[in-house]
Amino acid sequence: MTDTTTATVASIPVAPGALPLLGHALPLLRDPLAFILSLAEHPRMVRIRLGPSSAVLVCDPALTRQVFLNDRTFDKGGPIYDRIREVIGDGLSTCPYRLHRRQRRLCQPSFHPARLRGYAAVFARASEVTAASWRDGEVLDVTREMMMLTTRATMETMFSGALPAQTVRQALADTNTVVSAFFRRMMTPALLRRVPTPKKRRYDRARARLSATIAEIIAARRADPTDHADLLSALVGAVDVESRDDEQRLSDAELADQALTFFLGGMETTAITLAWALHLLATHPDVQRRLQAETDAVLAGGPLGPEHLPALDLAGRVVTETLRLYPPAWMMTRTVTQDADLGGVRLRGGSTLVLSPYLIHRRPDLYAEPDRFDPDRWRDVAPDRATYIPFGAGARKCIGDQFALTEAILALTAVVARWQLAPVGDQPFRPTVETSLSSRGLRLRISGRRRVAADVAGSSAAAPRPVSAPPSPPPGAGTCPVQHEE
Ligand code: HEM
Repeated sequence: MTDTTTATVASIPVAPGALPLLGHALPLLRDPLAFILSLAEHPRMVRIRLGPSSAVLVCDPALTRQVFLNDRTFDKGGPIYDRIREVIGDGLSTCPYRLHRRQRRLCQPSFHPARLRGYAAVFARASEVTAASWRDGEVLDVTREMMMLTTRATMETMFSGALPAQTVRQALADTNTVVSAFFRRMMTPALLRRVPTPKKRRYDRARARLSATIAEIIAARRADPTDHADLLSALVGAVDVESRDDEQRLSDAELADQALTFFLGGMETTAITLAWALHLLATHPDVQRRLQAETDAVLAGGPLGPEHLPALDLAGRVVTETLRLYPPAWMMTRTVTQDADLGGVRLRGGSTLVLSPYLIHRRPDLYAEPDRFDPDRWRDVAPDRATYIPFGAGARKCIGDQFALTEAILALTAVVARWQLAPVGDQPFRPTVETSLSSRGLRLRISGRRRVAADVAGSSAAAPRPVSAPPSPPPGAGTCPVQHEE
């Protein structure tokens, strides 16, 4: 931190429109995205009030990066994290700084590039199976379809092909129930969360069944520890030599938390990204046509595979631009663990900071015509680490970024290869603000283009094949210009 400072938090302007007692609760509930964007004119920081508590929204990309990079002082914590932990435990994405480094070292091998090559083969197959299961002229519930695709791909990459079809189907249904209840539960006070409504009972059953399934899979894998080339094998086999002897491996409970974290965290974000990408293509026929041309040239009538990734240039830029416009993690929070300086202001320990990729990605001083979908803005420009942050930054940066980008590029290609996408009706579609920037309710009409491969529908859908593909060329190389740190 370079600023020499002693200004107090009172020097940070309060966002306009605060009401006595309620603060900014009304605009935040009514239209949180419009409210957040209305604050983009504040160059550095602005205070937001929610009832008696207040938080500092960091608007400046350099300060946002400072917060990301100093994760000891600006840690994960506070009431929002307490509630997320009720669902996914103390896994990698929710644990505080003091637990993080060991967990990250233990989880990182699961996402090693050598493993990603095998995962990419699964993504390609799952994408083709999903795209081949649709009918000409159908109106798709796009978010639901993309959730099915990413759940199928995630289950297979995590647990390889050992799961019976009925278990996969049940896990899909339970995941949907848990994910759709997640945001509501986060926003409901503790006392009300315990009221046994039918929705709560459904949620409890789904959550318990999902945990039991994961526990069974872990027990089976402990009994047969050969490397199945999937995420779970990597987690079970991970050893952290920097930890004390009794903490060098993940315990069963930790394994279950990590598995649930990867499963729930990874699948919804990628599905939403894909749904938004399809929406943007449907509403920008010129880009769709160019992407179809790229897809046809690259696939040349053959089945999609990881070897095509380096040539899927426009698909990579479409995903990059989609994540700029609709970053699923539209805002994140941090707790200040001890008095600290940020941007010339002394923040008290215990304060809450809000970071918003959505706000930064749409600042007109950072992006020309920020609301315009323009994949070509990335043609010769690599995204900047401070102003393009769909995966966060620093030590807590998304561990699944390459996993997600690879999956999204392959899935997009599989869909566009077969189908022409068109909007339904002429009303603009708007995001629903949940824990993520949700595309819930998005519908698109599809019409057939041509068949690009042998009929794959139904072949591996019910009985996923194991992830045992031999290593292919590095996935995503040169396709999505996201910069990496670590
Ligand atoms: C497009 C898809 C995705 C997006 C936009 C996304 C976004 C993010 C963001 C913004 C963070 C940082 C959160 C923070 O700093 O508060 C994060 C962390 C994380 N993500 Fe993702 N993610 C995606 C896909 C995935 C996938 C596929 C997985 C796993 C299979 C995954 C697992 C995680 C985990 C475990 C963390 C916590 C990392 C840590 O704290 O060390 N994510 N993600």
